[in-house]
Amino acid sequence: MSIPVRLDKYLADMGVGTRSEVKGYIRKGRVRVNGRIVKEPDIKLDILNSEVYFDSRKMEYESLEYYMLNKPAGVVSATADNFCKTVVELIKEGKNKELFPVGRLDKDTEGLLLITNDGELAHRLLLPKKHVAKVYYARMKGRVTEEDVKIFKAGIRLEEDFVTLPARLVILKADVISTVEVTIYEGKFHQVKRMFEAIGKEVIYLKRLSMGGLQLDEALAPGEYRRLTGEELSKLKGNEKI
Ligand code: URA
Repeated sequence: MSIPVRLDKYLADMGVGTRSEVKGYIRKGRVRVNGRIVKEPDIKLDILNSEVYFDSRKMEYESLEYYMLNKPAGVVSATADNFCKTVVELIKEGKNKELFPVGRLDKDTEGLLLITNDGELAHRLLLPKKHVAKVYYARMKGRVTEEDVKIFKAGIRLEEDFVTLPARLVILKADVISTVEVTIYEGKFHQVKRMFEAIGKEVIYLKRLSMGGLQLDEALAPGEYRRLTGEELSKLKGNEKI
């Protein structure tokens, strides 16, 4: 595969500086391509097969992309769908067509969704045995009680052969409409809604706040996204016990 890109654009995309700063650096001889100083900002290079240095810094082409999306209600957690807008279609700047969501949120659920093309990381985060913690904010019909907190802590049988791991339920408001924060460690279909259904409560709003070490950036309105910071990424990648 070959990806031809203008040298100044490439270096700007890699965060070396603005396009005009980068042009200056190139003209000053600070950039080497395949061992030779190059002084023309507009030359095209095949970035996958070129070795580019800015001073002593080697440029590594980033083919992997990581986005934090605040999923809005009404879009589906899929890469393609005949009828509905998908979460991947919300990411406008991806260079790569291979983006997919890591796990699923229901169509009416909002909140944190990681969108990437890093299959290895996705696999690791979704492995059932990893028990990655997911925290949700939920609103439901019915008064949530301390007894419910104990039931969640004990684990809830959702299927004949499936009892949830102990889940942490924190009551924020107990009333005819209650609000809670709940932490679960698996990702079964409609799991949170089914857990509340099991105690006679109907979830009317659900939003994911975090997954593993990754917290939803509350500055993102539903439908907005941003790239993960380096710190967020290394937390997700490096932390075995997430
Ligand atoms: N549990 C649910 O019921 N729905 C979601 O979207 C996520 C977790």
